[in-house]
Amino acid sequence: MNKLILGTIILILAISACRSDKVQLATQNDILLENAIKKFSPDGELEHFVLPQSNDYNSIPTSPENPITPVKVALGKFLFFETGLGLAPMQEIGEGTYSCGSCHIPAAGFKPGREQGIGEGGIGFGANGEARTMSDLYTPEQIDAQGARPLSMLNAAYVTNALWNGQFGGGGVNEGTEALWKEEDGTDINHLGYGGLESQNIESLHLHRMVINKDVITDLGYLPYFESAFSDFPEEERYSDVTASFAIAAYLRTLITNKAPFQDYLKGNRDALTEQEKRGAMLFFGDAKCATCHSSPSLNSMTFYSVGVKDLYQCGTNVFNTSIDDTRNLGRGGFTGEAEDMHKFKVPQLYNLKDTPFYFHGSSKTTLREVVEYFNDAVPENVNVPASQIPPIFSPLGMSESDIDDLVAFLENGLRDPDLERYAPSYILSGNCFPNNDPQSRIDLGCD
Ligand code: HEC
Ligand code: HEC
Repeated sequence: MNKLILGTIILILAISACRSDKVQLATQNDILLENAIKKFSPDGELEHFVLPQSNDYNSIPTSPENPITPVKVALGKFLFFETGLGLAPMQEIGEGTYSCGSCHIPAAGFKPGREQGIGEGGIGFGANGEARTMSDLYTPEQIDAQGARPLSMLNAAYVTNALWNGQFGGGGVNEGTEALWKEEDGTDINHLGYGGLESQNIESLHLHRMVINKDVITDLGYLPYFESAFSDFPEEERYSDVTASFAIAAYLRTLITNKAPFQDYLKGNRDALTEQEKRGAMLFFGDAKCATCHSSPSLNSMTFYSVGVKDLYQCGTNVFNTSIDDTRNLGRGGFTGEAEDMHKFKVPQLYNLKDTPFYFHGSSKTTLREVVEYFNDAVPENVNVPASQIPPIFSPLGMSESDIDDLVAFLENGLRDPDLERYAPSYILSGNCFPNNDPQSRIDLGCD
């Protein structure tokens, strides 16, 4: 008996010795990196950058009027991809052929697979949305394509004000902008006091030609979901753009890239990043100053800067419905009208960027190496942007070729969650093809 206890104690000592050996195995890079990250954490802890689990609803930032519930998330996951909602098309042949997922494709990091998203009037999907083009049956003016590259839906929980110019959502950065909210651009919705995502989704349903009402959702089979998700709404308000938007917002907030290697690293697995990726992360949180702007757990922030990149109309011949006159080119200034806000864009999140090769609001870069070289050289590429709008921090970084390789490796692999398919539905209730349902997409997606 005594021998057994002694044996157990020796075993425990041996295991804990091994454990502490492992802790000591932290490389010089680990120590430097952890200290660098902690400098950007408000409470000095690595946990600041740890993203919550997708079902840990209490830890996911949300808007108070729309608590996340499992049934809202399940409903939102269907509606986001439901081509059956496409009931306000510009042309009859477009009916039921597009969805939110036409421009926010899971395997492409919830962005389109091309430089600009195309909803109605697009045909084809290819392998990852890259083969979508304008249908011959449409004129460019008729297709649904917007004057900036779509933002990702990943880590949307950290978005309090939606769009590149932040115009949706009455709180956050829009407090004090009440006088600017108007019907023409949909910002009068901010008066309802909903969160940025809730407000944006209502606008998105209208803009992208979708229809929600009791008849439509009954036909498609979603009635029981609305009944259960929104039983606290009076019946006459239960089946509407607002409730659909709330469900979609709840779903979007669960799209968290918590399986990325950097997330494992932050939680203590020092083998999750390669030594090269650690050096890259050290640059990100150190000499390359990236985290000064990319500072939230998703590496976005609700601040606006101009880094002088080109607009979408300057990006080549594959883009539609945008020009030098597009107010989207003005970023925050297009919303506020203030000289100081002109050409300033929201700081986007940085996870899963490798999944689709178009970067910045005008898709002016097609590799992450080009993006990093752009920040390293710090020469604004858009002649329309006055030098006064560019912040002093955008200045040459002096990184070597191998520094650039390291930073790119961190962005490409360290920040890539390899399992986004868990966030896509395997079917939608209409039984339609999704995220697109035009004839060529049906072939590409294997629906026929
Ligand atoms: C035709 C392509 C297209 C379709 C279809 C589309 N979107 Fe988008 N989405 C965009 C573009 C482009 C932006 C960024 C526009 C901007 O900021 O000026 C965007 C931005 C967003 C944002 C803001 C994200 C952020 O970080 O600020 C949300 C939320 C969103 N879309 C939700 C939806 C929903 C919900 C639907 C379906 C009802 C939808 N989108 C359908 C192109 C599309
Ligand atoms: C002055 C604040 C600031 C700094 C510093 C900064 N960024 Fe950004 N970053 C932005 C803004 C703003 C955008 C969006 C610009 C646009 O599209 O007009 C952006 C966009 C990006 C994008 C494109 C993301 C996408 O979805 O298109 C990447 C990648 C990126 N930054 C990486 C970095 C890296 C790496 C560093 C450090 C070398 C860095 N950033 C430093 C503000 C900053």
